[in-house]
Amino acid sequence: MDPRRIPSIAEWFHEETKYSPRSMGLLPRPDLDSRPTPFKEWHASEPIDLVPYLPFPGFPLGPSEDQRPLDPALLSEFVGALSRILYFTGGVTGIQQSSDESWLFRAAPSAGALYPTDITLALRGIRGIEDGLYAYSVPNHQLVSVLEGDFVPGIASSFWLHPAFDGVQAVALLSGVWQRSRWRYHDRAYRRILLDTGHVLGNLVHAAQQEGLQAVPLAGFEDAALQKLLFLDPEEEGVLVGVPLRRADDVSTAADGLVAAVKRSSRSKAPPDFESDPIQAIHESSSIHQDAEVTMPPDPPVWVEGVEGTRVIPLVETLGDISHEFPGIVVSRRSTRQFTGAPVDRGDLDRVLDFAHRYATPGPVRYLNARPALQIHLVMNRVRGLEQGVWRYLPDEHQLQLIRSCDERRRVHGACLGQELARDAACLLVYSADLPRAVEVWGDRAYRYLHLDAGFLGQQLNLACVHQGLGVSGIGGFFDDMWTEILELPNDHAISYITAIGDPFAGE
Ligand SMILES: Cc1cc2nc3c(=O)[nH]c(=O)nc-3n(C[C@H](O)[C@H](O)[C@H](O)COP(=O)(O)O)c2cc1C
Repeated sequence: MDPRRIPSIAEWFHEETKYSPRSMGLLPRPDLDSRPTPFKEWHASEPIDLVPYLPFPGFPLGPSEDQRPLDPALLSEFVGALSRILYFTGGVTGIQQSSDESWLFRAAPSAGALYPTDITLALRGIRGIEDGLYAYSVPNHQLVSVLEGDFVPGIASSFWLHPAFDGVQAVALLSGVWQRSRWRYHDRAYRRILLDTGHVLGNLVHAAQQEGLQAVPLAGFEDAALQKLLFLDPEEEGVLVGVPLRRADDVSTAADGLVAAVKRSSRSKAPPDFESDPIQAIHESSSIHQDAEVTMPPDPPVWVEGVEGTRVIPLVETLGDISHEFPGIVVSRRSTRQFTGAPVDRGDLDRVLDFAHRYATPGPVRYLNARPALQIHLVMNRVRGLEQGVWRYLPDEHQLQLIRSCDERRRVHGACLGQELARDAACLLVYSADLPRAVEVWGDRAYRYLHLDAGFLGQQLNLACVHQGLGVSGIGGFFDDMWTEILELPNDHAISYITAIGDPFAGE
């Protein structure tokens, strides 16, 4: 890379938000009294109560006493499908009572359990309810009307009339609220918000499939119009993904549209204005404006550098469709807090890698924007049948390539801020990308794509691990440069996400 090249704001932001042993000590401690509520407090006198459609009794927080929900007998069956889709995507699946408050845990994991991702639905043509925008109120599992009208055509035009919107009755818009996560993680929160939203999306595709719908996640759109539609304060929150929910038999049309022209954000020049808030700066510079450049279709920056003379191992085990088990997996899953340090079987790891990365290999619907740009490394601490060391996973071939034999347990422990999870995991899977090259292709929008996709894949890893009885946890806190060293990557490669997999303590 030309040393005189001026970095983009995406590269600047990544550098600014790297953790290092020196910078960690300088970050202020979060003020426990100013922790934001992890959801917006929506209230409507006549909400759509989604609880009666859940496939189990006893959801703890139904409508409040002053609410008179719409009569379910008058509503289309589609409302039941939406109820289950929302619940298994991001509903309350666990409650922890402390002395003075109750903590709600959700279907998708979230860094620090701060839940910065909100879901809004644009609905139309559904018997018994007005066309309009509806906010998903998580604690009560209800939809609250925000605005009446058919907004689907307007939303579709923000996605340059992507054919996946044709004829749909429901579109989910996922947005991030910066302060919910920034409160604890400062500017690096933006990375975690994208990862968290990727996890939510990772559930949404399965939850929709359960109801015979195809979720088509689209992260490229003109930001300003959607931002305005949802009345989001541009300094505090932003729309991150739009997801038309299509009938599954219409998928081919949706897939065709994915090769249609898309626009890219510009490649900005760092640093941003001296006074800019870094999260606002990266969100703005990664926004796509009306007059943005059109690419047809974008050329992904495939990572080609090979490692000569190293061993390549084909993986044999695969994992078939687990969709019928998805609801059970997602309600029972919790992130592992502690691993035993015992090894896991290579066959289980093969299956997890196969399941998660089928979304990263070419298929009829392109779930991911950045998939060819994401590199996948594994540090094997203790996997029966595989040498300890640093490996690379090749998803198209379902192969592992040995980069270096070594025992990295001490180093990965340190590089994950001393989290014991990293030391005791059987293996750590790391997503990374050549950020400068990704920015050349997608503009600063690359930063969003790389983290959303890593979160999406992270959720597939989570689901597959739970299916195989393995423990699993995302790791968003790590010393970036130590990781590029461990993986022998150039310093300007962005480590986007780490997932720890291992043997969970009994009872976890
Ligand atoms: C993006 C992301 C980053 C995370 N980073 C860490 C981490 O560094 N260390 C950790 O112990 N857990 C981490 N977690 C797990 C969360 O703490 C966990 O999801 C949250 O407490 C909610 O609990 P649950 O997943 O059991 O529902 C992370 C999760 C996500 C989605």
